[in-house]
Amino acid sequence: KTTILKIDKDHIDMEMIKSAGKVISSGGLVAFPTETVYGLGGDAMDAGASEKIYGAKGRPSDNPLIVHIASAEALPDIARDIPQEAYILAEAFWPGPLTIILNKNERVPLSTTGGLETVAVRMPSHPIAKALIEASGTYIAAPSANTSGRPSPTMASHVIEDLDGKIDMIIDGGKVGIGIESTIVDLTGSEPMILRPGYITRQMLEKVLGSVAVDQAILSENADKNFHPKAPGMKYKHYAPKGDLAIVEGTQEQVVETINTLTLQAEEEGRTAAVIAADESAGLYTCAHVYSIGSRQDEETIASNLFAVLREMDELHADVIYSESYYDSGLGQAVMNRLLKAAGHHVIRAGQTK
Ligand code: TXA
Ligand code: MG
Repeated sequence: KTTILKIDKDHIDMEMIKSAGKVISSGGLVAFPTETVYGLGGDAMDAGASEKIYGAKGRPSDNPLIVHIASAEALPDIARDIPQEAYILAEAFWPGPLTIILNKNERVPLSTTGGLETVAVRMPSHPIAKALIEASGTYIAAPSANTSGRPSPTMASHVIEDLDGKIDMIIDGGKVGIGIESTIVDLTGSEPMILRPGYITRQMLEKVLGSVAVDQAILSENADKNFHPKAPGMKYKHYAPKGDLAIVEGTQEQVVETINTLTLQAEEEGRTAAVIAADESAGLYTCAHVYSIGSRQDEETIASNLFAVLREMDELHADVIYSESYYDSGLGQAVMNRLLKAAGHHVIRAGQTK
């Protein structure tokens, strides 16, 4: 049975955190909030705990976990040959939504790193995450706390949906702030390279590091087939709702007209159709189920609502789902990376209805 603890992030109950820390240090699993998404935590230095994590998520065991730390002083415990860039990034962005790939040292079990000689490290800023890592007396390996393939959880109810009964404890710390996973930067190659876009943008990284490359495989629609993304997790189908999701692009007028035509057609055929739209245009759709994802004036709300809206598509049992696109500026890259994956790169150019 899974114990659920409600903890207020602004007034942390240290007795509760201590009991959660004990679950981790004795080899158990605890889901907890971070500033990006909920994580499913176990002792990163315990091979058995990492194996349990893969089991609970139904995750392929070649997909490595991120090691969460509470202080940059932990780096030499986990990594070796640490380049100066790691400390520059730590200084600029930690604690926060940035994961750094380094060469692992021998203390980190290969089951934590999915068999790789490199290790992903992140220092989260969420006060519950920080308190839990400190209370555990170890470092916490934590992937997102969803069943493999489903959207990452941004609230405790999402974690309960996927993992209740499969793990020891869930800490309910409320809705997370950012809502998409951390940016991943690889420092083990000849130049720093972004393996997964996130809240920390390329421009922000380039300000402190100079030029930063982007793994081309993650931008490609063929990431799954022809290219091999350097972050193993980026190759898996991800976030997809059960219904058919397509992204519709074009001018606002074209997009609205195309989506209205397609949803009407689906509804006439007795299928459940849904639309994912920005606040500004949500009122223009005729479909019975229109989900506002947030304002285009405030891209952070779009990021923070994305995964919850994708989960709502399954609750609705939507058969077909049409979404607007949200490229606008920095965070748009990270949002569209997730949305395109969820849609299996199915993009409709408005005006060319098929
Ligand atoms: O925001 C986040 O990063 C959240 C919270 C819980 O911290 N965690 C998260 O973990 O998103 P996960 O396991 O869902 O995604 C980790 C990604 C995967 O795509 C994995 O392949 C990649 O990081 N990764 C981990 N270790 C790696 C390594 N050594 N080399 C390359 N990619 C790695
Ligand atoms: Mg994940």
